[in-house]
Amino acid sequence: MSSFVGAVDQGTTSSRFIVFDQAGSIVGSAQQEHPQIFPQPGWVEHSPLDIALNTDAVIAEALRSAKLTAKDIVAIGITNQRETTMIWDRRTGEPLHNALVWQDTRVDPLVAYFSAQGGKDRFRAATGLPLASYFSGLKLKWLLDHVPSARALADAGHLLFGTMDTWVLWNLTGGAKGGLHLTDVTNASRTQLMRLDSLQWDDELLRTFTIPRSVLPTITSSSEVYGQVADGPLKGVPIAGILGDQQAALVGQTCFEPGEAKNTYGTGCFLLMNTGHQPVSSAAGLVTTVAYRFGRNPACFALEGSIAISGALVQWLRDNLGLIRNSGEIEALAASVKDNGDVYIVPAFSGLYAPYWKDHARGVITGLTRYANRGHIARAALEATAYQTRDVVAAMEQDSRIQLQELRVDGGMVVNELLMQFQSDILDVSVVRPKVTETTALGAAYAAGLATGYWKSTDDLRRNWGVSHTWQPRMSKEDRGHLYSSWQKAVTRSFNWVE
Ligand code: G3P
Repeated sequence: MSSFVGAVDQGTTSSRFIVFDQAGSIVGSAQQEHPQIFPQPGWVEHSPLDIALNTDAVIAEALRSAKLTAKDIVAIGITNQRETTMIWDRRTGEPLHNALVWQDTRVDPLVAYFSAQGGKDRFRAATGLPLASYFSGLKLKWLLDHVPSARALADAGHLLFGTMDTWVLWNLTGGAKGGLHLTDVTNASRTQLMRLDSLQWDDELLRTFTIPRSVLPTITSSSEVYGQVADGPLKGVPIAGILGDQQAALVGQTCFEPGEAKNTYGTGCFLLMNTGHQPVSSAAGLVTTVAYRFGRNPACFALEGSIAISGALVQWLRDNLGLIRNSGEIEALAASVKDNGDVYIVPAFSGLYAPYWKDHARGVITGLTRYANRGHIARAALEATAYQTRDVVAAMEQDSRIQLQELRVDGGMVVNELLMQFQSDILDVSVVRPKVTETTALGAAYAAGLATGYWKSTDDLRRNWGVSHTWQPRMSKEDRGHLYSSWQKAVTRSFNWVE
């Protein structure tokens, strides 16, 4: 009888459950979007109950459509949008507030406050991260300080904090009836509350941010049997892998050697390079993060270039401007013009992340003339992702002293041929798309399969990786230079918009 491994992928725009076979091919999947809640400019929330319901629904739907039952599934993994932060009452499972999504900028004043005493990089040595609105620790502080009764509940030992991996795991393992309260080391490394040397919560950081230790989950490895699904169609199936989604994609792309890198084009865009067992500190505006820790093996680290907005810009053109009806239309619209008409969009909707870390930046469209049309806007939107990637590749090369030979890509936007060709052109390196582009879910499945012996070693995983398409650069040096320097000029226009 064949057996499979599944993965919950709790992403920024949707939740999915995907089932893989031993070759890493997809045998079943289901997906459900959840609402994006924008209470005011810069704020982004999700309803945790929507996400919990959707997780159950996609598991049931994927199994039903692939005609599988719990008996066919050896183990499942969990991967998630990282940094998105929530608190709930352990006695009831009631969230006390919507989740604050990683893109949410409401903690900007806290960033300014803590930066004023010691600068933005004061916690970099300990945590690998600059002070920014992006990470979970300050979001948790905001919730504790603003949600009535949160601190009282915490004092009474009833309050739990979690990122979405923790929330999904707690619910799958029984919720208020004994759910596990854990997070893996990759997700913990995005809180700014964990030290990279000890891989444990740090009392001094907790004191600085006034966060009670009692609300924090236990930090575990990314690949071990944590527990079993308590109920529903997967009842009794071990949960054996947890990875933040970008780290999961690194694993799904089998980047296990130092110097191997991938770029995932989703809501945002995240370039991670494996740096081996030693954390490499960044001087060029990247973050240092845990890549994965398989069981008792030593942790592997990564340098990461985080870009907040890439696919989300296409969604914005669709939902907020009505320029296209569905995201797939962007490519044809962009291809309706021969170039960008000198239009550049800098989508600094949540400030700018790597390598700039400008909390006060906001989005701009530059170079508009009466010549510019919808096609130029569409093209500029796609190009923005490629330019931002070049920004972080330059930082990556500076920090790692490794010159990128090729870029492995994955995520929803890699079906876009125009973007991928432009990415290769603007980087002047080959861009390689693997056969399975659902690398995020695959990475979490790999972590769960390694923990349960479904796959014996990372060599087994490497054998599953294969190329589906390679794009080669074909732009002239002059054109590349001109376009990129115009982009850099446009980027400076987005700085310091909010005070
Ligand atoms: O750090 C945020 C990241 O994990 C979100 O990923 O794929 O939902 O854009 P994605």
